[in-house]
Amino acid sequence: MKVLVVGSGGREHAICWKLAQSPNVTQLYCAPGNAGIAQTAQCVDVKATDVEGMVKWARDHAMDFVVVAPDDPLAMGMVDALEAAGIPAFGPRRNAAIIEASKAFSKELMKKYGIPTARYETFTQLDAALAYIEEQGAPIVVKADGLALGKGVVVAATVEEAKTAAREMMADKKFGESGSTVVIEECMTGPEVTVLAFADGERVRPMPASQDHKRAYDGNRGPNTGGMGAISPPPQYTPDIARRCMDKIFLPTIQALKAEGRPFHGVIYFGLMLTPHGPKVVEYNARFGDPECQAVLSLLDGDLLDIFIACREGALDRADIKWKNQAACCLVLASGGYPLDYQKGYPISGLEEAGKSAVVFHAGTAQKDGRTVTSGGRVLGVTALGNSLEDAIAAAYAAARPISFQDMHFRTDIGRAF
Ligand code: AMP
Ligand code: GLY
Repeated sequence: MKVLVVGSGGREHAICWKLAQSPNVTQLYCAPGNAGIAQTAQCVDVKATDVEGMVKWARDHAMDFVVVAPDDPLAMGMVDALEAAGIPAFGPRRNAAIIEASKAFSKELMKKYGIPTARYETFTQLDAALAYIEEQGAPIVVKADGLALGKGVVVAATVEEAKTAAREMMADKKFGESGSTVVIEECMTGPEVTVLAFADGERVRPMPASQDHKRAYDGNRGPNTGGMGAISPPPQYTPDIARRCMDKIFLPTIQALKAEGRPFHGVIYFGLMLTPHGPKVVEYNARFGDPECQAVLSLLDGDLLDIFIACREGALDRADIKWKNQAACCLVLASGGYPLDYQKGYPISGLEEAGKSAVVFHAGTAQKDGRTVTSGGRVLGVTALGNSLEDAIAAAYAAARPISFQDMHFRTDIGRAF
């Protein structure tokens, strides 16, 4: 089969790397891809958000299957557009991808179906939002409704901080139209874990749990990023918690979406907080997380293309999904300054050496004058396995040692920051 993957980050590199192992994938393409993906797939010069361009390219080149990995094209309805053109596509349709694209929608869904999450109210008027913040007190969480690159959430320690966040989102339009509606919710406490799950509209098969590290610096300090590293599985996610999550969160969510006429086919991301009152949903995403994907897919023993097809066709009960009985760690090497200002175009050395003991997924890299150079905030995700979590973490750090580029930044406490 001729398969096209849409996207250009570490997550898409991991998806391409795994798909390339499927015997049924005869030709693999990635749009737009990056320098690392180019070693596994043929990169295609179409932007991930160019829905029309993607459909045209896929049709002109007779793709048999398209995997839409990032949030933006899913929210824009790329899967709907591909399917309408007769091209089978993996990922939720627009009406199901809304669980990520609108926090107000997903909070209402959880309320309606009794899925545990933080108490909240939704506001479109600044005055009412400010009054609610005053009434509730701090700590309190203020969220822009729409997609804001993971940056539209403020966990405010004081009432003043919360009010400033609401003003910036609603009056100053810091996140554009994403902030015309805000969700203000109760501040939860406890460890955070991610559970990615395959869903076929009706059934849900969770992957091993994982844990992202969203803050830029050690000790969970500094600004929020897309994710500085991930481990799988996190020790806090016990079998007992897993069972509770399946019964109270995962299945009810998939059934709720089906009941609403929005069947979810694809990978659903459950961002969970293990609170003293049990696991609760922090957020849903409509796709694999990045860098959780790199860690989790490294543990998959099954055929990813078969699983994707089963999700699309409502046949997950027949899918052969096996996991290695190991742990994984993905260490992100980022550009100095990320997630704020950073330079691009620095040559990267040591990739070949690192690749001997780990899989080095590329995120922001490009090819320039015959060299691999940095081209984004998150540059690489060095991913290693181990028989224990400690071993996996040690292996990822050891493998990353030969890699260097100017101003390279990484956290030294992936898997150890609680
Ligand atoms: P989100 O984009 O909704 O995942 O939020 C980003 C981060 O903000 C989460 O990973 C949490 O660390 C934090 N967060 C979001 N909502 C809450 C909440 N209700 N209570 C505490 N922390 C939260
Ligand atoms: N790593 C968090 C996300 O992909 O949203």
